[in-house]
Formats: sequence, structure tokens, C-alpha cells
Amino acid sequence: MLAIDAVHAYATVRIASPADLTAVRDVASMTWHATYGDILSRPTIDAFLRRAYSDYRILAAVNDGGLWVLEEDGRVVAYQRLSMRGDVGYVGAIYVLPEAQGHGHGRRLFDTARPWFAARGAREIRLTVAERNEAARGFYRHLGFTEMETVDSHLLGEPLQERVCVLPLMQPYLFDD
Ligand SMILES: CC(C)(COP(=O)(O)OP(=O)(O)OC[C@H]1O[C@@H](n2cnc3c(N)ncnc32)[C@H](O)[C@@H]1OP(=O)(O)O)[C@@H](O)C(=O)NCCC(=O)NCCS
Repeated sequence: MLAIDAVHAYATVRIASPADLTAVRDVASMTWHATYGDILSRPTIDAFLRRAYSDYRILAAVNDGGLWVLEEDGRVVAYQRLSMRGDVGYVGAIYVLPEAQGHGHGRRLFDTARPWFAARGAREIRLTVAERNEAARGFYRHLGFTEMETVDSHLLGEPLQERVCVLPLMQPYLFDD
């Protein structure tokens, strides 16, 4: 118990910088293989990681301000990717290294996402999660997301069923007199 509390005490969340490029890519690679190894083929995972976590794509995410990292004892162990489309906020990714999962980091990241979206006028937060990723689905339900429709999707040509999840956001101005 003491060890877990100590981990929490040294966790910090901050906006990513170009210096985080390699760390984000490493967290993505390790977490993707651990999470999707039974859901997607290895060649698909590797090809997706090469494409989605190229220098260009990571730096573009850094530049638009929606890439966040979480450090545990000074080491990046998690990140999230946030974006806006109209008045809808999207969580494009939230990944915590397997050995750092269950330490409260996912919630800590999401606690920064919610005000980030609210400040940009989001009326709701949306994301998609692999239908077979039961652990992540439980996490999102626990955070208050409602599971909506299942969509038949593809990742680089490989079929993937995904569940759409939505969390409405209250806008403070709705209660102003
Ligand atoms: C899913 C993930 C982001 C959650 O992050 P985490 O750091 O492991 O989760 P936390 O420790 O912050 O848990 C936060 C809360 O959710 C709860 N929770 C976590 N997983 C849960 C589950 N499967 N079912 C119900 N509740 C769950 C925790 O009990 C905790 O509750 P509390 O804050 O009320 O005490 C992380 O495990 C992960 O990166 N998984 C692999 C990658 C992945 O699937 N990402 C999502 C892709 S869409």
C-alpha cells in the first residue's frame, strides 16, 4: 500500500514536448503489443505503430497541444491524445505501460482531459474502444462513459469491431442567470 501511495506522490501530468518523442513511441509500442496481441495480428500492430507514431505524426500532435504525458518518478509511463472536432472532444488514445497500470494514472490523465475539453466548449467526449478490449471498456464505464453502438471497422485492412463511448459534459454557462 505504501509503495502504491509513493508512486502516486511522484506522478506528474504535463503537455508533451518534442523531447518526449521517443518515450511516447516506446510506451505506445509496448502497450499496444500487450493490449492488442490477442486481438490484432502482429504485422498489423507493427505497421500501425510505424504509421501512427512516426516522428511527423508525434510532432504534429505535440504542436497542436493535445498530446499529454504522465511521468512516474521522472519517467514517461503513459500518454493521452486529445482533439476537438466542432463541439465534440475526442480521446484518440490513452495508454499506460503495462507495469504502471492500476496506479491511478489513467484517471489522472483523464482528470486533465475533462477540463481541457470543457475549456474548448466540448458538449461531450467521445472515443472508440476495441470491442474485445474488456479491461479498457470497464475503465471507461467506471469513468462515466455510456457505451453506444458497435461499429465494424478496419485497421490497415484487418477487421476490428469497435464500441463508441460517450460522456456528456456540463457547460457552466448553462447554469448562469
Ligand atoms: C485502460 C487504462 C488506460 C486504464 O488506466 P489505469 O492507469 O490502468 O487505470 P487507473 O488505475 O487510473 O484506474 C482508474 C479507475 O478506474 C477503475 N478501473 C480500471 N480498470 C477498470 C475496469 N476494467 N473495470 C472497472 N473499473 C476499472 C479503477 O478501479 C480506478 O477506480 P477509482 O479511481 O475509482 O479507484 C490502462 O490500463 C491502459 O493503458 N490499458 C492498455 C491500453 C488500453 O487499452 N488503452 C485504451 C485504448 S481505447
